[in-house]
Amino acid sequence: MVAEFDDAAGWTAEAVEELGIQYAIPAACRGSASPGALAWLAEACELSAGTRLLDVGAGAGGPAAWVAEQFGVRPVLLEPMQAASRAAARLFGLPVIAADGARIPLRTASMDAAWCLGVLCTMEDKAALLGEINRVLTPGASLGLLVVVAQSPQCLPVPEGNYFPTQDDLEALLDRTGFTLIEQTGRHATPLSWSRRVDQVRGVIAARHRSAEAYELAARQAECLSRLFATNQVSLELIHAVSLSRGSRARGR
Ligand SMILES: C[S@@+](CC[C@H](N)C(=O)[O-])C[C@H]1O[C@@H](n2cnc3c(N)ncnc32)[C@H](O)[C@@H]1O
Repeated sequence: MVAEFDDAAGWTAEAVEELGIQYAIPAACRGSASPGALAWLAEACELSAGTRLLDVGAGAGGPAAWVAEQFGVRPVLLEPMQAASRAAARLFGLPVIAADGARIPLRTASMDAAWCLGVLCTMEDKAALLGEINRVLTPGASLGLLVVVAQSPQCLPVPEGNYFPTQDDLEALLDRTGFTLIEQTGRHATPLSWSRRVDQVRGVIAARHRSAEAYELAARQAECLSRLFATNQVSLELIHAVSLSRGSRARGR
């Protein structure tokens, strides 16, 4: 996970600095989000100028930077990996909290909305993360998720450090952690204008770091995930959920 999320995020920032800032957002979207997917999430969550959006597991900050630019939201990024946090701050100048999503150092009910993109599938204890996100959201606030969902309970081979939920797991999890699933949609195509820039950044990274052990490890993980998508063993899902008011959560118990 460190190779995939930390080393690779640092290398991305370096490559963007060489190629130019117009490469930053596409290259720093590391959860496979496309502009169409981000727009769907932003519209579904009804984000607008001034919304305090917490991006949990923000990585190198591409999605948060995109939504700040397009919708005028005020994002706060939370990311446990050091190089990824530094990359987000360096590339976009956004505020980053270096912390674990299961222990968010923010006050209860202090955020208007949250995103958590490509993170749940990397965590065994998903309930701890979602429960904590629910705590910091105001009641009725929106949560946008991007999740790799397993099409059957036994999908193989699973890349190391990944724990893909099934659709049933995901629905039960949201229910258990105080969210109502409002709507869900599948993958959005990535335009060439983005994928070309991502490929160029990858080219620079490969030229510089191909011989590093972390590079090989991250490449193997990516290849394994691509095989799962190609064989329809997993799908990429976008989800809009809403945090239940604390009163209705208590009444539901
Ligand atoms: C696939 S990347 C997605 C990054 C970003 N959300 C995006 O879409 O570009 C998954 C991110 O989740 C972060 N992550 C893993 N475990 C976490 C945890 N316990 N709390 C918060 N973030 C975590 C990783 O460090 C990594 O940056």
